[in-house]
Amino acid sequence: MPDQLLRVDGVYQSYGDEEVLKGISFDMDRQDVQVLVGPSGSGKSTMLRCINRLTEIDDGDILLDGQSVYEMDADDLRREVGMVFQDFNLFAHLTAEQNVSLGLRRVRGFSKQEASERATAELERVGLADQADSYPAELSGGQQQRVGIARALAMDPKLMLFDEPTSALDPELIGEVLEVMRELAEEGMTMLVVTHEMGFARQAATDIMFLEDGRLVEHGPPEQLFERPENERTASFLSRLTQLHGGQ
Ligand SMILES: Nc1ncnc2c1ncn2[C@@H]1O[C@H](COP(=O)(O)OP(=O)(O)OP(=O)(O)O)[C@@H](O)[C@H]1O
Ligand SMILES: [Mg+2]
Repeated sequence: MPDQLLRVDGVYQSYGDEEVLKGISFDMDRQDVQVLVGPSGSGKSTMLRCINRLTEIDDGDILLDGQSVYEMDADDLRREVGMVFQDFNLFAHLTAEQNVSLGLRRVRGFSKQEASERATAELERVGLADQADSYPAELSGGQQQRVGIARALAMDPKLMLFDEPTSALDPELIGEVLEVMRELAEEGMTMLVVTHEMGFARQAATDIMFLEDGRLVEHGPPEQLFERPENERTASFLSRLTQLHGGQ
């Protein structure tokens, strides 16, 4: 299966006595855009954290390009799996360009000049060419999040993970971040996205997964989950999300 990029195979995870993921399995091919939805506490962030090994699993395996992430060098894994967080996680004392350059120098061994050129190109890609010298405090939340995306893209990841990338943003700033994500999807980036934005899910997702209490309740293309969900709970959850977050 040359097209398969990610295989999540029977993953169980717990924090202490609390079992969070209860046997999760799914695959992603290259260029897939998987949207993961589910109630608060269902395990969405934990699932993403297991993929880039911010959290250990109890059972099962996670394969990236056929190799268990538990057998990969941690730096290689961080380079190959980009992560974008809800709260941006930028360094306040560094400019946009320096925030993007940092990983290029530390993780990829670029020279200062090479890192600066690549960072400028990535900022351009997310529409921020003219903000390269701004500090995070001088940028809107939407701009800060786009710097976060540029920083992840600079690593040339095989897979991008997004954990509610627009949840901390004022409504009028959500669209510009979703637009960058749509462009990435069109360019063929493989993306696993936790989001409440159902407009994005309908348009950009190849598949939607509904997670509830640590189990995948339903999994399929957007047409199926929105129009012909097999499970009653999927139907009511998606219709509620669409009422709240259907716009963009
Ligand atoms: N570091 C941690 N230590 C202990 N328990 C945790 C930790 N992180 C998450 N949990 C627990 O694991 C469960 C799943 O949390 P998780 O953050 O994965 O859910 P989520 O689906 O991302 O929720 P939300 O929509 O609120 O972001 C919750 O019960 C949570 O309290
Ligand atoms: Mg979460």
